[in-house]
Amino acid sequence: MATLFEETTINGMTLKNRLVRSATWEGMAAPDGRPTPKMNDFYRELAAGGVGLIITGFAFVQADGKALAGQMGIHTDDFADDYKALTGAVHAAGGKVVAQIVHAGGQTMSETIGQKPLAPSAVDVDQFQETPAELTKEQIKQIVAAFGDGARRAKDWGFDGVQFHGAHGYLINQFLSPLTNQRLDEYGGSIEKRIRFLMEVYRAVRQQVGNDYPVMIKLNASDNLKGGLTARDADYAARRLSEAGIDAVEVSAGTPASGKRNPARQKIINPDKEAYNLELARMVKGAVSCPVIVVGGYRSHAVAEKTVAEELMDYVSMSRPLINDPGLPARWQAGDHSSSGCISCNACFGPGLQEGGIYCVVQKKALEKAARAE
Ligand SMILES: Cc1cc2nc3c(=O)[nH]c(=O)nc-3n(C[C@H](O)[C@H](O)[C@H](O)COP(=O)(O)O)c2cc1C
Repeated sequence: MATLFEETTINGMTLKNRLVRSATWEGMAAPDGRPTPKMNDFYRELAAGGVGLIITGFAFVQADGKALAGQMGIHTDDFADDYKALTGAVHAAGGKVVAQIVHAGGQTMSETIGQKPLAPSAVDVDQFQETPAELTKEQIKQIVAAFGDGARRAKDWGFDGVQFHGAHGYLINQFLSPLTNQRLDEYGGSIEKRIRFLMEVYRAVRQQVGNDYPVMIKLNASDNLKGGLTARDADYAARRLSEAGIDAVEVSAGTPASGKRNPARQKIINPDKEAYNLELARMVKGAVSCPVIVVGGYRSHAVAEKTVAEELMDYVSMSRPLINDPGLPARWQAGDHSSSGCISCNACFGPGLQEGGIYCVVQKKALEKAARAE
């Protein structure tokens, strides 16, 4: 029976346990996307906390694909030394690190990218803050190539693998969803056509990094949104990716427009609320022959352990619990199985936008209170 703390491999990448840090935007990069020394410290601390694999915050592959302030970019060869410092910091602390690469598509603002956002179709939907411009075929080609170039840089700069972001309403997800993809050409219409962009991105990435390098996807297995990507269509996408040779699928769901069923749900107040994407992950597990990572609401050791031992998922990934405490995996491994202190309030986004880096606001307040009491 599988256990959380055992060694596994994903296409040659050896991981010391089955816990993964799910991609988490740090809000710490320079305005042009260059990683900063603060990020090296942040990632070093995560690695030292014992998690088997760290997936970085999303890095944009092209300047017009940036989503948020403080987001890092992997769109230029100029950042080689900065990224090598980051991967070096993780490796020195005994960790493994995969770069998440993204294009935001319509899920950004002209204020952020200095031009009208680009998307599969010029549609006015809740998911977008402004109506984007429709991508031309030439622009699609450029973005596909930019994903490939981003992956090549990740490999050259010491990352142990690459994950492209096909979830949470960003560009790949926009192509998959009938709500945001209303194109009449070969990129829109049936699911066979809506996955064209995704498969082109996969092939461009694979071509750049070769067969012996871990290539993973974070995939929305449902948009949890009326008219959005359905589980059935996601199942189809996962099958095609598996056949094409993807090395792991991380299962997520929801977009910023999905209300309570958004990707980072709140009120995970008891174990019943945890593992909120597990049912979708079971579906994906049945569709693919590669390892499956499941994210969403994991807070307790018991639920995480059960997911690998009984549900037969390969990995459990977490974001907010490791903002609250990067040392959680080491603590669980040492036998202290108390649950994460994360209360799923999402206040961690605030300092990323306003103070140049995320942290757990609740934890900080508690520490300050304790210090005052001393
Ligand atoms: C501050 C913050 C930043 C995030 N940034 C990313 C990101 O860059 N890429 C991504 O795929 N998901 C991102 N997410 C979503 C998480 O990876 C994860 O899917 C979600 O929070 C649910 O997992 P959790 O309950 O363990 O937090 C972010 C979440 C938070 C709270």
